Amino acid sequence: MKTLKLNNGLMMPQIGLGTWLSEKDLTYKAIIHAVKTGYRHIDCALIYQNEEEVGRALKFCFDNNLVRREDLWITSKLWNTHHKFEDVEEGMNTTLKDLGLDYLDLYLIHWPVPQKKEVLYPETKEELYGLDEVPSEETWRGMEEMVKKGKTKTIGVANFSAHKLVNLYNNASIKPAVNQVEIHPFLPQTELRKVCGEYNIVLTAYSPLGSPGRPDMMKGESEPSLLFHPIVQRISEAKNVTPAQVLISWGLSNDYIIIPKSTNPKRIEENFHSINVELSDSEKEEINQIDMAYRFCRPDHWFHRGINFEGQTFWDS
Ligand code: A2P
Repeated sequence: MKTLKLNNGLMMPQIGLGTWLSEKDLTYKAIIHAVKTGYRHIDCALIYQNEEEVGRALKFCFDNNLVRREDLWITSKLWNTHHKFEDVEEGMNTTLKDLGLDYLDLYLIHWPVPQKKEVLYPETKEELYGLDEVPSEETWRGMEEMVKKGKTKTIGVANFSAHKLVNLYNNASIKPAVNQVEIHPFLPQTELRKVCGEYNIVLTAYSPLGSPGRPDMMKGESEPSLLFHPIVQRISEAKNVTPAQVLISWGLSNDYIIIPKSTNPKRIEENFHSINVELSDSEKEEINQIDMAYRFCRPDHWFHRGINFEGQTFWDS
């Protein structure tokens, strides 16, 4: 399994199993199947509301000697309700308890969107804090404490634009090691990749298959399909691999971490075996041309100028 080196010297497995939208009753078996298949990296978050199921599966894996804790990479994420310095540890402790772990390998600030504690998903701007009230630098100090206390080995962020990331970087004692964002051929994040390269921050790609399993209410009107894009289809037929394997292999060739989600045993295996699929330079170049600056995951109702972004859009675009 290929790994990427982080700014703290740790090696992060390049392919991981995503768990966003993994149904509670399927998660347990999916994690065990993934570990048996060879995955050594599981991407979790408190807000996915399935960390207890992940934790039960991990316990099964450890008890049955399928894998040792030290050979597994576990990422989780701090939810928006716990951005105040004094709340970060509570968020972390809930995750550690649910996952049944003593430490994480990587803990991320899930969104640069601090929320009041009462609601999980804010609908109005009154349910948010302004970044002037709870700045990401304050949350970051809480994250740094988690490293000092041994609760996580590495810290990073998710859904940070280049502008927000550089700002945080310049104010951090422990530098962010990872930024997890949406990346795929429709949204290759060329600019952000350049900035992260300059600052030695590794990117993780979520929704690498275009997140086709999201509920309809989260989907845009006449949303384009990545898996059915004619170029992806044609390359998959020519190579006798699946469209998902083409997309994952393209991601792996770009030197970032990639976390396709599946709870289906066959697709868990299929996705993992993308590590054996090699695209030619011309195939990669064809896929590079698909860029249409299209974002699948867009909780636009959270983004309010003057609350969680200033002077540019939420995504700097
Ligand atoms: P399932 O869990 O039933 O396999 P993303 O990682 O971009 O968010 O995409 C995840 C979605 O894509 C889920 O709905 C998942 O469904 C589906 N999926 C995962 N792997 C594959 C695959 N190899 N081929 C087609 N669909 C897949």
